[in-house]
Amino acid sequence: MNSKELGATGVRVPAIGMGTWAIGGYSSRDTTHDSEAIRALRRGIELGMYLIDTAEMYGAGHAEELVGEATKSFPREQVFIVSKVLPENLHYADVIKAAEKSLKRLQTDWIDLYLIHSPNPRIPLTETVAAMEELVERDLVRFIGVSNFDVDQMEEARSYLGENDIVVNQVEYSLLDRSVEKDVLPYCTQQQITVMAYTPLAHGGLSRNQFLQEIGAKYQRTAAQVALNWLIAKQGVIAIPKAIRIEHLEENAGAMGWSLAEDDRERISSYFGRFGL
Ligand SMILES: NC(=O)c1ccc[n+]([C@@H]2O[C@H](COP(=O)([O-])OP(=O)(O)OC[C@H]3O[C@@H](n4cnc5c(N)ncnc54)[C@H](OP(=O)(O)O)[C@@H]3O)[C@@H](O)[C@H]2O)c1
Repeated sequence: MNSKELGATGVRVPAIGMGTWAIGGYSSRDTTHDSEAIRALRRGIELGMYLIDTAEMYGAGHAEELVGEATKSFPREQVFIVSKVLPENLHYADVIKAAEKSLKRLQTDWIDLYLIHSPNPRIPLTETVAAMEELVERDLVRFIGVSNFDVDQMEEARSYLGENDIVVNQVEYSLLDRSVEKDVLPYCTQQQITVMAYTPLAHGGLSRNQFLQEIGAKYQRTAAQVALNWLIAKQGVIAIPKAIRIEHLEENAGAMGWSLAEDDRERISSYFGRFGL
């Protein structure tokens, strides 16, 4: 369970990666915690969480700069970098420009997975998708995907694609928000599109859940580890918790490499079903 196939690409990625929202500021640049952030990202890679999720939006580009700084001491092939283009940049030329700027900030020649951050009904998706394919053609991006897309939007995007397919839909998914289980998750599972679960710890709140703590005690695992393990036990689901504290990173990496028993997974599902759906 430590690694999973990305879509139907044959490429394997860790079941738990690292988020970077707020790591270099929220929607504006904040450099006050740079060394802590770089240290955290490097430690996370060493722990096997070498998939890093970032976006041009995060810290107004500063999160990408921190990812670039943190990853440059590793062979490039040993990290898997995910970034995203803002919904206001979805016209053809803007997508290309945004990707080129992200590449500079990331200090790399390619982005492993490039996502449309969220749909923008004011810009024709066919334009955006053509630009994403152009980036693949130019070897600036390896794989393309989407974020916050519903099934119709995924189908529309896929209908415009030629050589490529969507390999990921990044969506909010945790025990406290299971809305993707209605349509998005079944569609993605059936179509071999990886579901990348964001906010998987409900902003850290699940780590304090007493029910999860009780289940975790049986396995000598924490509530956060149980919450993440419950997610990655699902076919085609990977999770990207964000953590700047080293003890959190170590804990999150420890959500891999073991499995909840099926009856415990079911108990958790029905307990949280009361809230999550
Ligand atoms: N595509 C989108 O629209 C979208 C939207 C939201 C998020 N995302 C992505 O998903 C990533 C994760 O989501 P998120 O940051 O919203 O929420 P999250 O990962 O559920 O929660 C992050 C918070 O939980 C804390 N934490 C992490 N591990 C912990 C642990 N083991 N025990 C206790 N607390 C822990 C962190 O603390 P410390 O940092 O202090 O360690 C941080 O405060 C983002 O960073 C971003 O990359 C994407």
